[in-house]
Amino acid sequence: MTSGTGPPVVRLLHVTDPHLMRDESLEIYDVNTARSLRLVLDQALAPGGVRPDAVLVTGDIADDRTAEAYAHFRAQLRRYGLPVLCLPGNHDRPELMARLLEGDGFRYCSRSDLASWSIVALDSHVPGDPAGRLSPAELARLEAELRGTRGRHVAVCLHHPPLPVGSRWLDGVGLLNAPDLLAVIDAHPHVRLVIAGHVHQAFDATRGPVRYLTTPSTCAQFTPRTEQCLMDLRPPGYRWIELRGDGTVDTQVAWLEDWVVSRRPTDNRDQFMS
Ligand SMILES: [Fe+2]
Repeated sequence: MTSGTGPPVVRLLHVTDPHLMRDESLEIYDVNTARSLRLVLDQALAPGGVRPDAVLVTGDIADDRTAEAYAHFRAQLRRYGLPVLCLPGNHDRPELMARLLEGDGFRYCSRSDLASWSIVALDSHVPGDPAGRLSPAELARLEAELRGTRGRHVAVCLHHPPLPVGSRWLDGVGLLNAPDLLAVIDAHPHVRLVIAGHVHQAFDATRGPVRYLTTPSTCAQFTPRTEQCLMDLRPPGYRWIELRGDGTVDTQVAWLEDWVVSRRPTDNRDQFMS
């Protein structure tokens, strides 16, 4: 949290969908995912730059669902000494994450209070399904957190975006029970923001009083607004999010500099969505 003349501002670094693997030499769509995450973090958290209050990671951390991939993730992030707020994506293994990404600055699917904001991280993972769903228990947990945070501002975080992003193939594997989540959000006007991953592209929309964001992956991107999967030539990316004391949000997507993709990788939807 930063101090100044105005109300406190909370700064989040949002990174998502790093798709790490046990073997750090492996690539997805011509991108070495361990290297691209390292370069993203090095750029975003360069000495002398903005130091966020926390790093938010919205899933697909381990592409191959291995403990080794989570260990690599932990090693990469802990270099910075920042709180790391995590939740699972369709690729992840929630029970492994809960064990390996909790403690020593890491928090798994929890509520974190930062200044006047509460960050609530949810589990939308469905075993064997690229699409997501919030279980009744998870929706009840959100309800309870929202009842306990009245008077604060809330950012709800999950892997699968609850709004369509405009690509038919991706919207078909989004949050299957999005209306359930939206109904909870509608009933709690102190929810200001929803942050998701999964779609490997930037999305920024407003529904009622709530802002909905997604963020480019730290590895390869999908081209926005396509009928079928089409890889994008854009570089690895991330997002800065400023949570203001008055409940408003300021945000900016950033891309890895000096990154050259010379050819568009061929479509292989199964690789990302399995
Ligand atoms: Fe992903």
